[in-house]
Amino acid sequence: MLLGHEKINFLHLPTPLERLDNISDDLDINLYIKRDDLTPLAAGGNKLRKLEYLLKDARDKGATLLLTVGGAQTNHGRLTLAVARKYGLKGAIVAVDEYPGELSANLLLDGMMGCDVWLKKPDGVHSEGQLMKQTVAEVTARYEAEGEKVYYIPMGGSNEIGSLGYYDCAVELAAQTSELGLKNCRVVTTVGSMGTYTGLLLGITNEKLPLHLTGISIMPHKGGLRTAAKEQFDKVCDYFGLEALKADVPADALDVTEEYERGAYNNPCKEVREAMYYMAEKEAIILDPCYTGKCFAGLLEMVKKGEIARGENVIFMHTGGMPGINTPFHRIEIERERDKFIHIV
Ligand SMILES: Cc1ncc(COP(=O)(O)O)c(C=O)c1O
Repeated sequence: MLLGHEKINFLHLPTPLERLDNISDDLDINLYIKRDDLTPLAAGGNKLRKLEYLLKDARDKGATLLLTVGGAQTNHGRLTLAVARKYGLKGAIVAVDEYPGELSANLLLDGMMGCDVWLKKPDGVHSEGQLMKQTVAEVTARYEAEGEKVYYIPMGGSNEIGSLGYYDCAVELAAQTSELGLKNCRVVTTVGSMGTYTGLLLGITNEKLPLHLTGISIMPHKGGLRTAAKEQFDKVCDYFGLEALKADVPADALDVTEEYERGAYNNPCKEVREAMYYMAEKEAIILDPCYTGKCFAGLLEMVKKGEIARGENVIFMHTGGMPGINTPFHRIEIERERDKFIHIV
């Protein structure tokens, strides 16, 4: 039980915390990776921790179908469908997006799990938010007419209940670092819909854990990242009756950066792919082009600029997303850059 909420355990925690010896030597830092990509079900990833809590809530409410939203290639959508299937429910995704031209990456896995993906084409008139709301309402009505009880999960599973998954992870990290004798650790995480960051921050501050959290955004945030992060943190504190924490964690204490968002969500970027190749060549760990590759590219720049100091203990959160390398517009670039390693003899 955490802050009055239970979860359904399906993750076999803790996930490994491993030292990256080759990159640590190279960069002269003490770099660890938290392998939340190695979580079970449909290729794994960070959303599963949130879904342990969300599934419990859905079951308590008698849901027969989990419905969520995202882009056509949403990792969160894929993992929501996975959890639905594993626990005998139906699952569906609504995305305001173009059909990407082929059934690959996450969409392929969604199809393999036999779940509906409803793609609403942007119309250039209504905002994405308006189209999403309208399509979710239409799809929900359709399922309800078929007798389903729909449980709606917002973008990224990043609501108050979902954030508990990364509260757990903060506690888990503190135990692992203590066992390893690591002091003054900086945890670096990707910031997207923010549930991972908010959950970690809530765990770290409420439990007074000796961890410093750095959030690297992978997209621009309307009104600024720091403001958005503070608002989300305060909202979650209010929900769990932790009002006092809000004053303990002022906006200017949040270590978040938008400096490495590279212009847009999920855009193909050479620097990001270079960071992914570096990780793959040095440590045989595969990152993804939308989230973890972008975040790691930011981490590398922070080391280069001295914002991460020589010898510092750093934990990079691997939040999953590997199916994304097969998204056509990313895969084409990777093929172009890496086909030099194919030798037909
Ligand atoms: C692989 C991966 N990493 C990181 C994130 C960002 O997590 P959050 O949305 O909780 O900020 C996501 C979100 O979809 C993701 O799929």
